[in-house]
Amino acid sequence: MCGIIGYVGTRDVVPVLIGGLRKLEYRGYDSAGVAVVNGNGVEVVRAEGKLANLEAKLADKPLHGTFGMGHTRWATHGKPNENNAHPHRDCTGTVVVIHNGIIENFLPLKHQLQKTGHEFKTETDTEVVAHLIEEKMKSGMKFEPAVKKTLKELEGHYALVMINANEPGTIIAAKQGPPLVVGLGEGENIIASDVAPLLAYTRNIIYLEDGEYIIANDKKVDVFTADDKPVHREPKKILWDAVMAEKEGYRHYMLKEIHEQSRAVRDTFNGRMFEESAEIFFNDLQFTPKEWAKIRKIHIVACGTSWHAGLVGKFLLEEASRLPVEVDYGSEYRYRNPIVDDGTLLIGVTQSGETADTIAGMQEAKAKGAKLVTICNVIGAAATRMSEGVIYTNAGPEIGVASTKAFTTQLTAFYLLSLYIKQLRGLDKDDIRYAMHELSVIPHKIETLLKKQEKHIEQLAHKYQRAQDFLFLGRGVHYPIALEGALKLKEISYIHAEGYPAGEMKHGPIALIDENLPVVAIATHTPVYDKVVSNLQEVKARDGKLIVICDEGDEEMKKFADDVIEIPWTVEPLQPILSVIPTQLLAYYIALRRGADVDQPRNLAKSVTVE
Ligand code: AGP
Repeated sequence: MCGIIGYVGTRDVVPVLIGGLRKLEYRGYDSAGVAVVNGNGVEVVRAEGKLANLEAKLADKPLHGTFGMGHTRWATHGKPNENNAHPHRDCTGTVVVIHNGIIENFLPLKHQLQKTGHEFKTETDTEVVAHLIEEKMKSGMKFEPAVKKTLKELEGHYALVMINANEPGTIIAAKQGPPLVVGLGEGENIIASDVAPLLAYTRNIIYLEDGEYIIANDKKVDVFTADDKPVHREPKKILWDAVMAEKEGYRHYMLKEIHEQSRAVRDTFNGRMFEESAEIFFNDLQFTPKEWAKIRKIHIVACGTSWHAGLVGKFLLEEASRLPVEVDYGSEYRYRNPIVDDGTLLIGVTQSGETADTIAGMQEAKAKGAKLVTICNVIGAAATRMSEGVIYTNAGPEIGVASTKAFTTQLTAFYLLSLYIKQLRGLDKDDIRYAMHELSVIPHKIETLLKKQEKHIEQLAHKYQRAQDFLFLGRGVHYPIALEGALKLKEISYIHAEGYPAGEMKHGPIALIDENLPVVAIATHTPVYDKVVSNLQEVKARDGKLIVICDEGDEEMKKFADDVIEIPWTVEPLQPILSVIPTQLLAYYIALRRGADVDQPRNLAKSVTVE
């Protein structure tokens, strides 16, 4: 995710842009930049790192004008440095673009433009847009038609803001995927990734829909569809306060991030899997089949929720590679003198990329000759700098301390990696293509699940909020989800909860079962479904309260459980991405009812950078 903002009006534009970017920093903060069009043409200032670095540069080199744009970056293509920071320009320096999202077909477009003499200065996908517009203007097109034509050539997800220094006062912005909202002011108009930066100037907001673009100046904003038909859209009156706006109306970042999972999963596979050719491509991870053949075992090292993702990863990677996969807590691995050599692949899984125990475990393996790969959500974080390969989860910044979208995007990364390994091993392309298709529809299934089940889960939270203990049960790929569900509940509601393999319950925990103990079980259709049902009968026989997460339409389960939460069907390796969501929502709504501080639970930190 990135934060973008554009302004045209009568105010001194830089304070408007910087104030807006500060409200968008939660969307990304590895670099930032502004462009201002004034009597000297277009002036651009960019800086690596936090927004404060850009502000320091602007203090040294003040820019003035009443028309411009700003961007705060969460890098996807190209390292987070000043050169790759937005805004980006064409060869003439007069067409200026900022972007949030991924232009999936940027590479072929870039190669085509380079053949016609365009010189690229950055590693980003975004820069292609500026040169595409320039190419059309070189053939005599005006700025507006050049932009319209360019938009039709782009594939992928993007929120774009584009200006031309030779036509000051006109802003064009387009939406396909990531959000874009327009604030209608008096003698001024402002465009941004979300509402927060607009509320200081207006409460009259237009939300753009996918495929739409606007052409705006200080007097008017015209909205068009992808096929250039004008759209009349009544502005909405937004009554949020600024803090609510940063959460886009959600009460907590955690709830917002649960709802972002559809977009986050899509952004994690977009631009990496190509169904046509059944190919997987990672920007920052390349193995040759020969290099892969040297790998004889895989170790996964992580902590907390990321360790649960590693447990799911074990199933996916063992099935794909037929190599032994061990999963360890970082704090254990670093001291157990693990058996590692140059045939070991060590995968560090870490949202922050700064977790001390995970990094120490990775260092231990590296010192013994292992090849390191990291699955991480923060570009350039410590764990990524020590690895030969990285798979970035494009979840965007995760503000809530309890990890949600980072987890489901880690599962997505493991799924992509398992397909990549199958590709390296030359396995059947039709199987790989089918697996890709199932992943491609997961974002829609997440949306459906949230729409159909959230209210019901909120009611279940009301019903079970006073329980003193919970037991979570799962088998196979869902055993890690039982652990994750228990962790989510305990870390934000402070209720003791335990995750257990369903088949293992009879070896002890069954002594806990009585009418006061809610048992949350995942019983979707996997090869061990019948076994799970027998375990759940053992719970019912002892009056345990049974909440079952099952496939949509599982009528048997509805007769048998006290409560069911139905989730859409998908293939077994992808089921954890869906089955974890009810446990996230249950934890959230129980914590809410118990008045806990959901986004910042007591005693916790977002990233544990100490041992
Ligand atoms: C997740 O809900 C927890 N807050 C915590 O367990 C977290 O997953 C763990 O500290 C690892 O963090 P990392 O992914 O940034 O390495």
